[in-house]
Amino acid sequence: MASTTTADTINELLIPLHVKYIQSLNTRKNDLEYWLTEHLRLSGIYWGVTALDLMNHVDALPRSEIIDYVKSLQHENGGFRADKDHDTHLSNTLYAVQILVTLDALDTINLDKAIEGIDVQALQNTDGSFRGDEWGEVDSRFSYMALNLLSLVKRLDAINVEKTIEWILLCKNYDGGFGSRPGSESHAGQIFCCVAALAIVDALHHVDRDLLSWWLCERQLKNGGLNGRPQKLEDVCYSWWVLSSLSVLGNVHWIDKDKLSKFILSAQDPENGGISDRPGDMVDVFHTVFGVAGLSLLGYPGLKTVNPVYCIPKYVISRIGIDQYYMD
Ligand code: FPP
Ligand code: ZN
Repeated sequence: MASTTTADTINELLIPLHVKYIQSLNTRKNDLEYWLTEHLRLSGIYWGVTALDLMNHVDALPRSEIIDYVKSLQHENGGFRADKDHDTHLSNTLYAVQILVTLDALDTINLDKAIEGIDVQALQNTDGSFRGDEWGEVDSRFSYMALNLLSLVKRLDAINVEKTIEWILLCKNYDGGFGSRPGSESHAGQIFCCVAALAIVDALHHVDRDLLSWWLCERQLKNGGLNGRPQKLEDVCYSWWVLSSLSVLGNVHWIDKDKLSKFILSAQDPENGGISDRPGDMVDVFHTVFGVAGLSLLGYPGLKTVNPVYCIPKYVISRIGIDQYYMD
């Protein structure tokens, strides 16, 4: 482990500290922060499990306790909640399935009931777009979530895939990028959602590969970090949203890998573990997983390979035998 304590001199991934940091999130039930982040509980477990698995430490969290907790969040209608007393949401059903797929425990829940429960068919509008729940707004992130979830459980037949593709293409802009809705500006997070969604349904031929890769590689700033849109600050999570998109398009080599790797490493907390959005800020598990997953895409030694479409380790996707189509 590095003996250095200043962020700009950290030159390796502090795996034992990050493992401890993620473990600590599971035991801080008396902290105010734990209760304030109730709505993120299930997503937090997905991010923690994924980061640990990529760092070869998935056993650092209690497997059966997690499976039981995830199962306890299944509503009687079949869908999943972020925590008890919350409503079901497409995103939470996706996170539950991602956790259980990773832990090889998908057979512990009633999948048909989960798909019926979120009524994904009802969340799809006639134009092909998706809402996250019956009250929510339309957003291309929900199109991705629906395709991700349904492809993992092999139930793409539950929705109108052609209409889904048609609507995603309406979100495409003249700069090659995608926004949250038709007419919305290109944003790297939404680009990830749209590119990964199109990859799942073998529709990447609709993407202008060079134009979009150009827009994506222009996200790298002088300090090596990536931003999500022009004129915005660098942020470690964009190491995932930008780089995974470039990976799907087969153009990761268009960015300076060494500089990005150094930027991500410099955002680690060298005392208590975890990765923040940028050096010196407070760490959180969201930026920790996307920092680690970004390093995996960069080929950082000692990490498992991440699948750029699903953001779960590649071996998990191979184990369930899903075909993905990407250009890398
Ligand atoms: C930036 O959001 C990120 C996005 C818009 C993408 C969100 C996508 C998901 C949550 C889908 C699930 C992802 C996986 C990997 C399974 P922001 O609101 O923080 O943007 P800002 O940086 O502009 O504030
Ligand atoms: Zn961020």
